[in-house]
Amino acid sequence: MGVKWVCVFLVAGLILSIADLGNCGRTSSYVRNDDLAHDMSLDSDVFRVPPGYNAPQQVHITQGDHEGRGVIVSWVTPDKPGSSTVLYWAENSSSKNIAEGIVLTYKYFNYTSGFIHHCTISDLEFDTKYYYEVGTGNTTRQFWFVTPPKVGPDVPYVFGLIAGDLGQTRDSNRTLTHYELNPTKGQTVLFVGDLSYADAYPFHDNRRWDTWGRFTERNAAYQPWIWTAGNHEIDFAPQIGEFRPFKPYTHRYHVPYRASGSTSPFWYSIKRASTYIIVMASYSAFGKYTPQYKWLEKELPRVNRTETPWLIVVVHCPLYNSYAHHYMEGETMRVIYEKWFVEFKVDVVFAGHVHAYERSERVSNIAYNVVNGLCTPISDQSAPVYITIGDGGNLEGLVTEYALFC
Ligand SMILES: *[C@@H]1O[C@H](CO)[C@@H](O)[C@H](O)[C@H]1NC(C)=O
Ligand SMILES: *[C@@H]1O[C@H](CO)[C@@H](O)[C@H](O)[C@H]1NC(C)=O
Ligand SMILES: *[C@@H]1O[C@H](CO)[C@@H](O)[C@H](O)[C@H]1NC(C)=O
Ligand SMILES: *[C@@H]1O[C@H](CO)[C@@H](O)[C@H](O)[C@H]1NC(C)=O
Ligand SMILES: *[C@@H]1O[C@H](CO)[C@@H](O)[C@H](O)[C@H]1NC(C)=O
Ligand SMILES: [Fe+2]
Repeated sequence: MGVKWVCVFLVAGLILSIADLGNCGRTSSYVRNDDLAHDMSLDSDVFRVPPGYNAPQQVHITQGDHEGRGVIVSWVTPDKPGSSTVLYWAENSSSKNIAEGIVLTYKYFNYTSGFIHHCTISDLEFDTKYYYEVGTGNTTRQFWFVTPPKVGPDVPYVFGLIAGDLGQTRDSNRTLTHYELNPTKGQTVLFVGDLSYADAYPFHDNRRWDTWGRFTERNAAYQPWIWTAGNHEIDFAPQIGEFRPFKPYTHRYHVPYRASGSTSPFWYSIKRASTYIIVMASYSAFGKYTPQYKWLEKELPRVNRTETPWLIVVVHCPLYNSYAHHYMEGETMRVIYEKWFVEFKVDVVFAGHVHAYERSERVSNIAYNVVNGLCTPISDQSAPVYITIGDGGNLEGLVTEYALFC
């Protein structure tokens, strides 16, 4: 097929420092094991419930606005609603602020969720450390985060890419530990989808959404994870009366989609430091005239490359994939959107889904019109680099077999 693929090695963690993307950031040489592909048992240390009656658990944050001055804080109280208030203050500041959130619950087959809180904090100062507290009485818990610098062209920032498809095996735990121990400290995680793998259990056992939330809290409570929906978030199970796709995911993980004019949490954008990040939805309609299509059609011309020189797309299913696993699944999206990615000079497209690592050269395949025979990808300096980083450690294991020669 003439595509030159740079197949490096299987990794499960990548640090993208936008100060030196000139050499494509740094790809960790970490290769995860494939020997512990069983989920951690329910009594594992990483799933421990925090002490105290109705103590907040599964605390996680994400960006809460378009510019990086907002944070959405989310957590679960197991026994009763408690308070949806977040108390927060800048480091060394004597005045504390309060933000009021909302609380949700949902049922899934015979599972009833705890009380899921989401609270948006806005108008924070850039580049500042904040402490925050959730819970009431003697079961409050305190965490912190650092806001990004003001959006602008020359603002260094470090994104971590914990491979999507994380799951909750001991390998998933190793992946997260590896990310935490990386000497280049990631400041925000771009998460390329497939979170808990609860759907791998009988009746989509939603307790595995709770364990996943407790497992990832140790990182996600302190730095934003930018969420992308994967196929394991769909949880569509008509055989057990669950007809509404994405029910657990949309109750548990909120994103600031309205801030970018999106009408759905599955596609949205944020600016962070010198980067413009567009999250796309592989599992929501994206054909011509769909809401996602119309949104992106308006969105791409809005990106000001003087302000945010880096334009990154995050999507679960890769548009280019030479592994046998999920081969060609991203082809429909590629046919529709690749020409825009080239036209608007997207720098990098990150995807997960395929449990492996792969990085393309700058190639495009947009000249083909069915009759002209131009169906071979060509080298194209306006094209993005496509990076698949889909092996966080889930129970399905690694893939190594290629569909194409490599
Ligand atoms: C919380 O405070 C109450 C009343 O002061 C006390 O009875 C209870 O044991 C405390 N719980 C914890 C976990 O400290
Ligand atoms: C806060 O106080 C600590 C200790 O006094 C100091 O090291 C730090 O620089 C201060 N931070 C800010 C933002 O003023
Ligand atoms: C839900 O149903 C399954 C299958 O019947 C059962 O094993 C499980 O204990 C039930 N859980 C609850 C919370 O009732
Ligand atoms: C997960 O990793 C942490 C270290 O980062 C370790 O303390 C903990 O015991 C591990 N738990 C399991 C179940 O692997
Ligand atoms: C793009 O961003 C630059 C730098 O922030 C600003 O000076 C310029 O006005 C912006 N252009 C548009 C069209 O908004
Ligand atoms: Fe997937």
